[in-house]
Amino acid sequence: MRAVVCRELGPPSVLRLEADWPARPPGPGEVRVRLAACGVNFPDLLTVAGIYQEKPALPFVPGREGAGTVVEVGSGVATPAVGDRVMLRTPGPQGGFAEEATVPAALCHPLPAGMSEDEGAGFIVVYGTAWHGLVDVGRLQAGEMLLVHGAAGGVGLAAVEVGKALGATVIATASTREKRDVALAHGADHAIDYDADGGFREGVRALTGGRGADVIFDPVGGRLAEPSLRAIAPEGRLLLIGFTSGEYARLPANIILVKWATVAAVRFGVFSRKYPARAQASLAHLAGLYELGKLRPRIAQRFGLEEASTALERLRDRAVVGKVVIVP
Ligand SMILES: NC(=O)c1ccc[n+]([C@@H]2O[C@H](COP(=O)([O-])OP(=O)(O)OC[C@H]3O[C@@H](n4cnc5c(N)ncnc54)[C@H](OP(=O)(O)O)[C@@H]3O)[C@@H](O)[C@H]2O)c1
Repeated sequence: MRAVVCRELGPPSVLRLEADWPARPPGPGEVRVRLAACGVNFPDLLTVAGIYQEKPALPFVPGREGAGTVVEVGSGVATPAVGDRVMLRTPGPQGGFAEEATVPAALCHPLPAGMSEDEGAGFIVVYGTAWHGLVDVGRLQAGEMLLVHGAAGGVGLAAVEVGKALGATVIATASTREKRDVALAHGADHAIDYDADGGFREGVRALTGGRGADVIFDPVGGRLAEPSLRAIAPEGRLLLIGFTSGEYARLPANIILVKWATVAAVRFGVFSRKYPARAQASLAHLAGLYELGKLRPRIAQRFGLEEASTALERLRDRAVVGKVVIVP
C-alpha cells in the first residue's frame, strides 16, 4: 500500500511517500481499516524530529489517528464489523499516514451520526485531550472561568468547545486576529492577544473582576507560563498540555503556593492506555456532544499523502487554524 515513511529523523522534508509499504493482516482482536482520512497532530511533527517522548524504531509511518471503513477483522472481534465506518487511534505514535491501518478493535469507535471521515480523522486526539484535561484532571465546573491558550490550534479549539459545552465562560488567547475570530466563532466568550497592552494577564484580570481564571489549558508553554500562574484564581488548576513554543514552562513555586494552585500534567495517550474503559466512556460523551451540535470540528485544509511534509510544515509554521487532514 502507499504510506508516508520516515527513514531518518529530522524536519518534515525527510518524509517520503512509498508505494510498497506492507499492509498487515489483522491478528486476534485486531481490525484492518481502509483510511479515508488521517489526522495530523503537532506530536507527529515532534515524532518525526525525534524529540517526542515515545520514539518508534526507524523506519516508521508517522500519524496516530484516522477514519475509514473496516475491511477485515481478526479472530475474536465482535465489533466493529466489515463495512462499519469508524474513527480510530493507532496503539502508538505511528501507523496513521497510510492507505490502511491495522489496529486493536478496542481503539476503533463508530463514527457519530452525521460525522464525515475528515472530521472523524482529527477528532479523537484533540477532543479526547480536551475532555481528559478539563474533566478528569482540571475538574472544570459550570460557571467557572476557563482560559485556553493557542485557542485556534487543534487541541486549543477543541478545549474552547468542550469548555463551553461544560458550562464554563471561556477566554481564548491566540496570536492573530483571524485566529481569535475563529475561537469566538467556536464559542469563546472573549478572545485576547497574548501580547495585548499589559499582556494577556491584564486582560484576564479585567474580564474576571481581578479574580483570575479557575482553569488554564496551556498547549503553548514557554513565556506564557509565569503570567498564566499570575492570572490564575485562588485554587486554580493550570493544565500542562504541551510546549508548542519550543520552551518548557518554568514555574515559580512561590506563586503556586500563594495562589493555592495546582499544576497538573495532562497525558491523554498514556491515560487511554492505562484506563481504556474510561477513555472509551469519554469518547462516547464526546460523540454525544457532536451529535447535539455542540462540537464542530474545523477542517482547515486537506492534503494528499504525497503532501504530508507540507501538512506538518503548516503546523510548524503556526499556519493552521483548526485541523489539517491527509486524504490518501
Ligand atoms: N498532553 C496531551 O495529551 C496532548 C495531546 C495532544 C497534543 N498535545 C500537545 O498539544 C500541543 C498542541 O498540539 P496541536 O496538535 O493542537 O497543535 P496545533 O494545531 O499546531 O496548535 C498549536 C498552537 O500553538 C500555538 N503556538 C505558539 N507558539 C508556537 C510555535 N512556536 N510553533 C507552533 N505553534 C505555536 C499556535 O497558536 P498561536 O499562533 O495562536 O500562538 C498554534 O495554533 C502540542 O504541544 C502537542 O504536543 C498534548
